[in-house]
Order: sequence, then structure tokens, then C-alpha cells
Amino acid sequence: MAPTLVYESGTVICRRQRMCNLASSLTHLREVANCLALAILASVLLAAPFAVAQKVELSVDVSQPGAKIDRSIFGQFAEHLGHGIYEGIWVGPGSSIPNTRGIRNDVVAALKQLKVPNVRWPGGCFADEYHWRNGIGPQRVVTLNPNWGGVIEPNTFGTHEFMDFIDQIGSQAYISVNVGSGTVREAADWLEYMTAAQPTTLENERAANGHPDPYRVAKLGIGNESWDCGGNMSADYYVDQLKRYSRFVRNYNPAQEHEQQMTKVAVGPGGDEPRFIDWTETVMKAYQHHGWSWDIDGLSMHSYTVVKWPPSFKSMGFGEAEYAQILKSTLDMDKLIKTHSAIMDKYDPQKRVALIIDEWGAWYAPLPDSNPGFLAQQNSLRDAILAALNLNIFARHADRVRGANIAQMINVLQAMILTDKEKMVLTPTYYVFRMYVPFQDATFVPVAFDPGSYTQGDTTLPRADAIAAKGKDGKLWVEVTNVDPTKSVEVEFNLPGLSAKSAAGETLTAPKVDSINTFDSPNTVIPMPIAAKAQGGKLTLTLEPKSVTVVSVE
Ligand code: AHR
Repeated sequence: MAPTLVYESGTVICRRQRMCNLASSLTHLREVANCLALAILASVLLAAPFAVAQKVELSVDVSQPGAKIDRSIFGQFAEHLGHGIYEGIWVGPGSSIPNTRGIRNDVVAALKQLKVPNVRWPGGCFADEYHWRNGIGPQRVVTLNPNWGGVIEPNTFGTHEFMDFIDQIGSQAYISVNVGSGTVREAADWLEYMTAAQPTTLENERAANGHPDPYRVAKLGIGNESWDCGGNMSADYYVDQLKRYSRFVRNYNPAQEHEQQMTKVAVGPGGDEPRFIDWTETVMKAYQHHGWSWDIDGLSMHSYTVVKWPPSFKSMGFGEAEYAQILKSTLDMDKLIKTHSAIMDKYDPQKRVALIIDEWGAWYAPLPDSNPGFLAQQNSLRDAILAALNLNIFARHADRVRGANIAQMINVLQAMILTDKEKMVLTPTYYVFRMYVPFQDATFVPVAFDPGSYTQGDTTLPRADAIAAKGKDGKLWVEVTNVDPTKSVEVEFNLPGLSAKSAAGETLTAPKVDSINTFDSPNTVIPMPIAAKAQGGKLTLTLEPKSVTVVSVE
């Protein structure tokens, strides 16, 4: 029988009658040694009370597969904003930075690994002031970018350069057309220019500009935040515009006639205030009564994690309080999706129209000494965890959420990549997107668990989060996030019906909640292999504090 220990005023006392009398006889030496060992252990526990692992049990029900996790939820957003396009993607063919036709090779190589399903371009607010003709042909029109710092927009990165970029990274185009300051005809011409296969004047012009084959446009965004920067329209006015754009802005690419048809995405809500509830109601009611002549396939939604406007949280050099507040706030995404999905369900019970969260992510205060219009921010371990929590929310709503685009791809907001001239660094968020690649088009599998809770000051949120899915590779993939920054978590997955033999995976963590990768230290927050045990219908692993873990089971 082991001696029992109690803590009294920080002193460890052995409560066993004959014990802890160090002057006791030699026959008690073993017990004394036991007592001392336990005393040392206890004092370690007292000195580092956070080291105690918590236990979370999860049950994965492979017999109840859910919806497909559309790979489009891993989409990206690249706007003409700050150094997102210029310097981030485009350096020009004459640059000393290695490039292919002006597009950075290092960035392309990194993005290819993410298997980016689509890139939304050219905005954002920029899209509603973008005139595509400025960005084609040998002579580009130099304009301004009044939304984002009022800087010169050289238009050297236009339609052909974007399509080349998409091609180089193996992705698809999600084009946002100008509803705010453009016309239906301008947008219709742009689509004809990009997609026509027959020898129209616009098709000839595209060929003369170097691309005889029609481009594919996978998605068409009809406006951007038309309730705000996209023209301050009322919902009714927008719906009238939507019908015209949906009708006349056609995709002529013969390869997209039957299969891989272009999907049309209407502007949707930007929050849960009454005006946004009304917006979703109005668009979806119109959709319910739509005739043959117009249609939509998606409703967009924008939601940033910001806590309060204007963004004031720091993206680096913050503590556990800000860590907890931001992560708690990001979980509101779930409620927002439920609110708008419920409205969509009323008008579209078959869930034909996808909810596409085509702007999401953390929006912090601009970096000191940066142009505030450039939305430059750092990216920490906190952002990696934030990304995982949101991706899991999207996956849990896979039946309705069939697209999402994190804002933004490079050098802007919650970026995958940061660049400075010839230097490039991959952010913690990048690594989460890389770890989640097996979830692309995987089939959601329900997981039941009690997440426990983590409290920091007056902020409490679930300690753990998890999703599971059957990958296209036939393996079961699980993701588990440990939000708690100080306690590890012992995870036990029950996998009834699975004779799991082996498990392998990666975990992403770092010394501090605000750890970042820098150009000089790019490997502070990178995924490392994790030891997981799969045996007898159970998967067990230990999660580091503040970590994101992805494991496959065979
Ligand atoms: O992503 C930055 C901006 O945020 C976008 O241009 C706009 O759509 C949103 O308000």
C-alpha cells in the first residue's frame, strides 16, 4: 500500500502511522524512500501545478458518416491590398527574386503544398472599383487604390497574371465582379473575354494578349459587401442587381457547360445584426421564387474575429488574456452560421444554395510603422489555433457551408505567407492549412466528447475541440485542438467498428501563445511528428498545451 499524501501549507506530509519518522528503523527504509520520492513528486506538482494532464474521451461513430467536407472551405482570398498582390505574389519578370513570368517561385512552391481549391480575386472592396480593362494588354492603365492606403495601382497584375498564378499553384479562379461602380455589361464582357471559345472580338483580344484557350472561372462573386463598401445598397436594391448579373454575366467555356459549371455567389450577411438577418431573408426569399432566368448557387458571408471595431488587439507581444478573448470570440462563427443557415433552411430546405464564408480570419491592429491601409499583421500560434477552430466549425456545418476563403493569402490580415523583398516565411496558419489537406473532400464523421473548459480571468471556453473524417485515401483522419495554454490533454478516442492498427500524425505548438515565425527564425511554430497509439479499437495520444494535432488511423 502506497503512502497517502496530503498538502498542508505547502508541506508534504506522509499520513501513515509508522512513516515519516526519519529516525525509524532500517526496516522502514524502503517506505522512507517511497515517501521521499512521492514528496519530491508532490513538490514538483506544487511548483508546476499546470503540468497535470487533463483527460478527454472521444467517441467516433464511423457508422454514421455525414456530409462531404467540401475542399472549397480551404479557399484563399487575394485582394489588391497592401503587399498582398504586389511583392507577395507579383514581383515582375525583371525582378532579381526568382520568378516565373513575374510570379514568385518561392510563394508558388509553398502554396502548391496547400492544394488551394480556389482563390477569390481581385477583392474585397477593391473589386467594386476594379475595371478589368485596366489590367489587360501591353499598356496598363495606372489608377489609385482609394480603399487601401490610396496608393498607386499599376494594374500590372491583371486577368492574365491572375490566371497564370492560379495555374501555377494548381488552383481555381473565384472572380468577384464589380457591382458597386461597374455595369452588368462590363462584367458580362469580362466573362466573355475570359471564357469565350468562339472567335468573338473579345475572344480574339484575349488570344492576342497571349491566351487563345478559354480560361475556366469556377466561381463568380456578384458584388462584395454591397451593404457597405460595395455600394451601401438596400437588400431589395441588391436583389434587383443580382438578378441582372446572374442572368447576363455568362460563362462561355464549353468545358464548363455541363460539368464543373461556374457557381454564382450572391452577397450575403456580415454579422447577426437585424439588417443582416433582413439581408439573408431578402436574398433567400427572392431565390425561393426565382424563375428560369436567374439563379444562385451560393450566399456569401463575411465574419472576422476582431472582438471590437476598430481592430485593436495586437498580433504579437500579447498575453494569455488576449489569447483567450480572441479564441472565445472566434467561436461565435458557429452561432452566426446557425443563425443564417436557419434562414436559408426556410427558403431552401434542400440546401441547394451553399453558405460561403468568403472572408474570415483574425483582424488585428496594424503593425507599428506599417501603412494602416495595408492591414499588415503578424501571425502567431494563437492564429493557428483560431484557424483550426474555424475549420472545424465549417466541417461540422458541411451540409450547408461548402466554401470559405480565409483573409488573406499573403502579407494581409491572417496570412499564410509573409514576404519582405526576397525573404519569405510560412506562418503558423499556413501549417494548419497544410495539416488539414487530408480533410479536403473527406466525409465528415461525428465525434462525441465532453471538451472540458479552460478559464482565463473572466473568459471561459471549451478546452478541447475535435473533428473526424473519412479521407479520400480511405483512412480515418482526426483533428484535436488543445486550447489550454498550460495543461496537456490525454486523449482517448473510442473507435467502435474499427480495427485500428496504426496511427501517425503531426502536432503544431510553440513555447508561447504569441510565438511567431520570423524571417530569421522561421521554425519556431512548425508541425512535429506526434506519437499516437492505435490498438483494440482505441486511439490514444497526449496533446501538448496550446496545440493543433492531426492524426490518421489505419
Ligand atoms: O479583407 C479586407 C476587407 O474586409 C475586404 O476588402 C472587405 O470585403 C472587408 O470589409
